[in-house]
Amino acid sequence: MGRTLEITPARRFGGTPGLPGDKSISHRALLLGALARGRSEVRGLATGWDVVATREALVRLGVRIDRPDEDTVIIVGVGGAAHLREPEEPLPCLNSGTTARLLAGVVAGLPGLTVLSGDASLRRRPMARVIEPLRETGARVWGRGGDQFLPLCIQGRNPLRPVSYRLPVASAQVKSALLLAALAAEGVSTIEEPVVTRDHTETMLRAAGVGCARSGSLLTVTGPAVPEPIDLRVPADPSAAAAFAVGAAIHAGSEVIMRGICLNPTRTAWLDLLREMGAGVEVLAEGGRGGEPVGTVRVTGRGLRGVTVGAGQVPGLIDELPVLAVAMAMAEGPSRVEGAGELRRKESDRIRSLAEELGKFGLAMEETAEGFALPGGGRPVAPPWSDPHGDHRIAMALAMLGTAATGTTLLREAQCLDISFPGFEPVLRQMTG
Ligand code: S3P
Repeated sequence: MGRTLEITPARRFGGTPGLPGDKSISHRALLLGALARGRSEVRGLATGWDVVATREALVRLGVRIDRPDEDTVIIVGVGGAAHLREPEEPLPCLNSGTTARLLAGVVAGLPGLTVLSGDASLRRRPMARVIEPLRETGARVWGRGGDQFLPLCIQGRNPLRPVSYRLPVASAQVKSALLLAALAAEGVSTIEEPVVTRDHTETMLRAAGVGCARSGSLLTVTGPAVPEPIDLRVPADPSAAAAFAVGAAIHAGSEVIMRGICLNPTRTAWLDLLREMGAGVEVLAEGGRGGEPVGTVRVTGRGLRGVTVGAGQVPGLIDELPVLAVAMAMAEGPSRVEGAGELRRKESDRIRSLAEELGKFGLAMEETAEGFALPGGGRPVAPPWSDPHGDHRIAMALAMLGTAATGTTLLREAQCLDISFPGFEPVLRQMTG
């Protein structure tokens, strides 16, 4: 049943929102915990559907995962992909690209047959980018539509051959799939990325005692390698934090304070962009967890100005661009985003979804093949209803826009928020008083 979120305009916006554990780190903690030998303990794991998909898939692969209390997950690792169990049924990756792509890298090293599928959105997303390099490992991989889409069928083997691969697109998911496959390979795997993308897999591998060296954009892993068990409190999700930061930024005089946020430099470009737009942004680093820097972020709302985002900045902002587009639409002066074609290949075509939905609020957005432009100075007026296109990032962006609109916004099908942020609605209400 669809859920409708009613968003009333906020005079002030702010507070200290409770945020979920980082989604990217949560997937990796489960996967590395499963491949480790012995008992890993992870606290503050994200509870959204995407991470549930990874957890359930691992259980079907024979990994024991317990939840002794609300906050703690215990993973009893099997000691390498060779010891996973061939699943009896296709593994449902739900809406999660991270589950499908990272898991493909893991099961390449499982000597058995694994089928990965997903929901209608995930079945439309590009998979050739992971099929092609995984074939170099010696695993046999097929995909629907001439090896382009889910379902994927993977006949793994162990050991794998090490790859030497240069990624044609900047993708942390593809990079991570290859790093995980490298654990089951005999020899040195070399992976090169065109632009540095989020590096949580590399960081966690090192924390788990696996040699993973970086030299510029080149990564090397020597296999076979079994990670040591991990003991981690997952930092709060910076992409979820970005939504509330934008909420504060578009309401002059407002303030949000967010603690325990992952401050990994591959994930914080949104803070720099909001600062460049004129928002008040303060960051207090407070040490690290499992190699990931963590700290407190304070964002205050002041008059915003338009900004240009170039192709080189896009990988660092990829998940935050939808909500940042809301700030751009309301800033004084034009904004432009270039080289962001990857946005069209996410849970929805995020450029199309944004153009359609901002249009409903009376905000003109010009689409280009690889980006968008906004004239700025927008004064949003709530439409009769708004639709997140099944996409959690679009839902959060529209919710923030609704807080600054004239009139009440009805966001249909708001259950997609549970993909990354169950409990978003009560936190939003807290912020809008
Ligand atoms: C992710 C990588 C990014 C990002 C996604 C999470 C990850 O995807 O958009 O939300 O955890 O590795 P791509 O690898 O497709 O850029």
